[in-house]
Amino acid sequence: MERHEFLSKLGIGLVAVCVGCGLVSCGSKGSNPTPSGNAPAPPPAGSGNLFAIDLSSQLANIGDSTMQHGVILVRIAAGNTGSAFTAVQATCTHQGNTIGYNAGQGIFICPAHGSEFSKSGAVVLGPAASPLQKYNVVINGNTLTVSA
Ligand code: FES
Repeated sequence: MERHEFLSKLGIGLVAVCVGCGLVSCGSKGSNPTPSGNAPAPPPAGSGNLFAIDLSSQLANIGDSTMQHGVILVRIAAGNTGSAFTAVQATCTHQGNTIGYNAGQGIFICPAHGSEFSKSGAVVLGPAASPLQKYNVVINGNTLTVSA
């Protein structure tokens, strides 16, 4: 094998590994939070309606999540009631990396330095010292609206 051919194949392999390991945050079950760089700033309290989803086609299974406008929304229980979901800021309060939801453990985890947060956003394990901001979840028919 020629040197340039070997390097070419190595480059393709590295790209495949990087793509496979880093793009699983939105719309996934979130069982393996992955680093995704700095998250957008969380919406401040009083921002009003942030986004809405259609429950007839989205977040059908426990552990399903979506990340929009700096907020991660997760289904944590069966049924279409507000208590079956949680919505918290997607930005870790330690140094601003994007958190993910670990469905197996039922907690939010920051992959940067390992901070853990409860479903309501409380700090379970540092180094983060401040809780995640929690957002309101209101359901009207099949429409779930997240607001601040
Ligand atoms: S940025 Fe999240 S634990 Fe450090």
